[in-house]
Amino acid sequence: MARKLDLAEKAVVELTAKQATAELARLAAEIAHHDALYHGDDTPEITDADYDALRRRNDAIEARFPDLVRADSPTRRVGAAPSAGFAKVKHAVPMLSLSNVFSDEEAADFLARIRRFLGLKEAQSVEVLAEAKIDGLSCSLLYLDGKLERAATRGDGVTGEDITANVRTLDDVPQKLKGKGWPARMELRGEVFMRRDDFLELNRQQEAKEAKVFANPRNAAAGSLRQLDAGITASRSLRFLGYAWGELSEPLGATMMEARERMASWGLPVNEPAALCDGLESLLATYRAILEQRPSLPHDIDGVVYKVNRLDWQERLGFVSRAPRWATAHKFPAEQAETVLKEITIQVGRTGALTPVANLEPITVGGVVVSRATLHNEDEIARKDIRVGDRVVIQRAGDVIPQVVEVKNRKGKKRGPAYVFPERCPVCDSLATREEGEVVRRCTGGLICPAQAVERLKHFVSRGAFDIEGMGSKHIVAFWQDGLVKSPADIFRLHDHEAEIAEREGWGALSAKNLMAAIEERRTIGLDRLIYALGIRQIGEATARLLARHYGSLAGWREAMLACAAERQANPSEMKKPELVGPQFADLCNIDGVGFSVADDLVFFFAEPHNLEVLADLEALLQIEEVAAPSASDSPVAGKTVVFTGTLTEMTRHEAKARAETLGAKVAGSVSKKTDYVVVGADAGSKARKAEELGVATLSEAEWLSLIGGQD
Ligand code: IVH
Repeated sequence: MARKLDLAEKAVVELTAKQATAELARLAAEIAHHDALYHGDDTPEITDADYDALRRRNDAIEARFPDLVRADSPTRRVGAAPSAGFAKVKHAVPMLSLSNVFSDEEAADFLARIRRFLGLKEAQSVEVLAEAKIDGLSCSLLYLDGKLERAATRGDGVTGEDITANVRTLDDVPQKLKGKGWPARMELRGEVFMRRDDFLELNRQQEAKEAKVFANPRNAAAGSLRQLDAGITASRSLRFLGYAWGELSEPLGATMMEARERMASWGLPVNEPAALCDGLESLLATYRAILEQRPSLPHDIDGVVYKVNRLDWQERLGFVSRAPRWATAHKFPAEQAETVLKEITIQVGRTGALTPVANLEPITVGGVVVSRATLHNEDEIARKDIRVGDRVVIQRAGDVIPQVVEVKNRKGKKRGPAYVFPERCPVCDSLATREEGEVVRRCTGGLICPAQAVERLKHFVSRGAFDIEGMGSKHIVAFWQDGLVKSPADIFRLHDHEAEIAEREGWGALSAKNLMAAIEERRTIGLDRLIYALGIRQIGEATARLLARHYGSLAGWREAMLACAAERQANPSEMKKPELVGPQFADLCNIDGVGFSVADDLVFFFAEPHNLEVLADLEALLQIEEVAAPSASDSPVAGKTVVFTGTLTEMTRHEAKARAETLGAKVAGSVSKKTDYVVVGADAGSKARKAEELGVATLSEAEWLSLIGGQD
């Protein structure tokens, strides 16, 4: 120990090559250790200034002895992706999420939708694999010739993080597969999680060390897996169960069951409990059986995943947005608990919506402490007659925000007065009004309302939008209060304030630098993300993608929206017929998934000059990527507008539409001069005639299939 200190105190110019080698090794280990504490969930042991001193010394020694720079040098490791600490991995096949169902009826709808989509006859059965939904983190394992090559987190589904070193410490994950017959290139996927007993034991140890305790097994698994120091991961008991795959050089079989059996034969633990079901009744029976087993399982599960067994059907069913059509998660019922309502406060959202929030006597619901729950809106409060001081039932289901379900007062209890919903915004004092037919009361303060401004900024940096790592809600609030970030574009001017940010409490040179790097990473952004980030009412991620794909570029989109706004202004009629408003407006409404009311919200946004300024400001600072059709740039129908009409024989209309979209085509509901192809099935009517009138190419179903090269 004493020798190390001596060496550390020696001036860099005085070091011999041998001493420099030893020092660089020590610094690499020490910096990696502090990085791990910093990036992980644990508490840092040294101040930012001391950390910076270590980095500076490492840099100085490397500058003097460039030949001695280590492969694991901190300058190499952190340089490329300083904000993340892990290398990025682009998933060859996106890692998607699952849609949810919450009731038997919704499970029945799921099955019915699949039958409809595939156009199955009544007698034809659909086998579905039902398996537990593990409450952990999904993980991808790439095997090359049977050897584990790389492991990655899901990340945002498109890009994850390289956690190979960490995953190699898991006993459940074979470094080398057993048996034979695996595809040369094979990416298997599954869940990393912590068992409940291991979680309790870990927290006991953490408590003894006065280190951070984790809220639940899932957080503990996440904190343990995302450690820059794989040594820490190794010391935590993490498990793995496989249930899916990504890229494969050869198929794993014809069904899910076959693929599962093969995965198991190669030594990979596969997800249990699971059962192959045929028909709704057996599916629901399995659901109930797994729900019953839940308490006795060693790990947390939060539902049952249903997956169509036949893989050729899975392929036909494809995806909607970010979830497969061939699978869904049937979530377990919500957990409830009773507590006291202490206060009702009002939250103002980015669109000015006033949401009443119940502040509660803290209570544990399904393993999580809840002290706030939503009361939805003023009508709900009135309908349930909820008053401050009442005993209320709180419900929590999965990731959904906890809600107040009902009042449960003891008989004869004296109650407070009925709640009066405010008619003014509690933040900016502007009038809050309700439009006809709406349940939501909104602040009319618009741009002058600080709450709306801050919420819009939070949305701007959120996950589906700019997704700036390290820029959480509390930072946005702090930067806004200090005037550093008033509008979205200010985020991209923050580098002028890097030194100032480094000085702030809770920050430091390294954190400030990391934030700047994370911001820089997002200076290039897809048009779809930009559109979503603007926070326009009703424009979610899926609609933003449709708009980006339809209009291609920011300039194209803006021009069209301004034209729509002009058309709408000239025709503020109440008649909800898009064609009567104008051609651009009709074209917008004709995008499948955009209707009159969504189009109107876009028009409102573009009619406000300030919004145009915000957009121009961003445009000057950002590189906006045009949105290519998904994996279809070379498909013959990419970018083409297609209309289907009449009865198709090879597939249902729904399936035809989904496949066309996967190939990058835009599917429209009616024929116009902009239509490229009209695919005419049996008994087609007016649309086929209109195509002929307008001189639009018509194709038979067979011609369409041969054009897209799909016989299926
Ligand atoms: S299948 C295409 N099966 O749930 C989607 N996912 O809510 C393939 N999960 O990100 C996923 N247990 O992390 C599948 N038995 C199971 C699962 C499971 C847990 C997780 C997974 C996924 C998330 C989606």
